Amino acid sequence: MSTAATTEKLPFFLRGNYAPVGEERTATNLRVEGSIPRALSGCYLRNGPNPKDGAPPHWFFGDGMLHGIAIEDGRAHWYRNRWIRTRQLTEGLRMVGPDGQRNLSAGPGNTNIVRHAGRILALAETSLPWEVTGELETAGHYDFGGRLTTGMTAHPKICPATGELHFFDYNWFPPYVTYHCANAAGELVRSIPIDVPGPTMMHDFAITDRHVLFMDLPVVFDFERAVRGVMPYRWDESHGARVGVMKRNATSDTAMQWFDVEPCYVFHPMNAYEKDGRIVMEIARYPELWREGSDRFDLASLHRWEFDPVARSVTETALDDRPIEFPRIDDRLCGLPHRFGYAVRNLSSTTDEATSLVKYDLSTGTSVEHDFGPGRYPGEAVFAPDPDANDEDGGWLMTYVYDAGCDRSDFVILDAQSIAAPPVAVVPLPGRIPFGFHGNWMAGAGSRSREPASGGTSSNQ
Ligand SMILES: [Fe+2]
Repeated sequence: MSTAATTEKLPFFLRGNYAPVGEERTATNLRVEGSIPRALSGCYLRNGPNPKDGAPPHWFFGDGMLHGIAIEDGRAHWYRNRWIRTRQLTEGLRMVGPDGQRNLSAGPGNTNIVRHAGRILALAETSLPWEVTGELETAGHYDFGGRLTTGMTAHPKICPATGELHFFDYNWFPPYVTYHCANAAGELVRSIPIDVPGPTMMHDFAITDRHVLFMDLPVVFDFERAVRGVMPYRWDESHGARVGVMKRNATSDTAMQWFDVEPCYVFHPMNAYEKDGRIVMEIARYPELWREGSDRFDLASLHRWEFDPVARSVTETALDDRPIEFPRIDDRLCGLPHRFGYAVRNLSSTTDEATSLVKYDLSTGTSVEHDFGPGRYPGEAVFAPDPDANDEDGGWLMTYVYDAGCDRSDFVILDAQSIAAPPVAVVPLPGRIPFGFHGNWMAGAGSRSREPASGGTSSNQ
């Protein structure tokens, strides 16, 4: 057991509820408080770092672990947590080889979990995806039948109209950025190098129904830091800051239109869309990031960029002054005008984590919060639509909530139309779920037929 003195010396991501859990559990037929809507049938999966041995050099590098819960017929059939069996975990393979090149089959696989064309992919932006089963077992790394020869962002976008999967890679060698598109069947059909002035940390991007948007922001690659084996990115305002807008059907980046913006950093857009000839992008904007080292995260707030391709101008508007992160929407409106957005309030490693989710009504400029109460901390909230509803917010928000009072987590479902109301359902889980990154609701996945044969709780190590 660590003493208080030694615990204080640990990096933040090995303390409190950032610390990893040591067990893989399976629990079935979980107790439900309240009522799980019967329209919800599927699996909620969430990814995050959970270093198996020792201390990685940064929170972002810990071995990925998935936490999943399967619900159907108003019941919570199972909860599972599983490490993703990356080659970093099983063989100690490093992301950067002795020749300085990336090893695309290494990486922590710890950032997001998405489903496309029938495959469930665990993603971290440094490497190839890792395919997992509906029971969270690792099948192996996935390279689109040999066609993907770069890494893959953890934030691909599925176009709701075409079913295409749009994504990109960034690298510290040219081409620094490559844009990719897979068709609805999952075949990689387009890969286009994107010309940027140098290597930067490009965590996420956005699409509209006609365009794809890239953020070239001043968190730059630092070779000296890479050699030392620490987070190789730092703030450098001299890089400038700009957003590139390219037609989705482009065959090269020659017609990319770049818009200079005020220096800032953005891990996550909320959405982008086109309106009255302008391209709108809503973002969780940091005034700066990692000027003094990469373990400090300043606070982001919701802003809007509007790009006018004819006037070649940008308008930046602050939409809120509350700190937020993990902005989400109804993903059926990815790239399309939307009214509602959802975010975690004030998630930061350098301040007390707040206990609220925020629902934004962007048409009225109003918002509503759900406060989980003292010592109860939500993660990213994922919107699961009610298939019978017509309203944009007709559905539910789901997340894991950590309760510091009992050092355990709950799976919580809120009515998205009444988010300030008490949860419609709470499922107490057998352990705690460390603070992590991104998840998704996968309707129809993780069904009852995939329950383990024996009930109760078991553990794997
Ligand atoms: Fe992310």
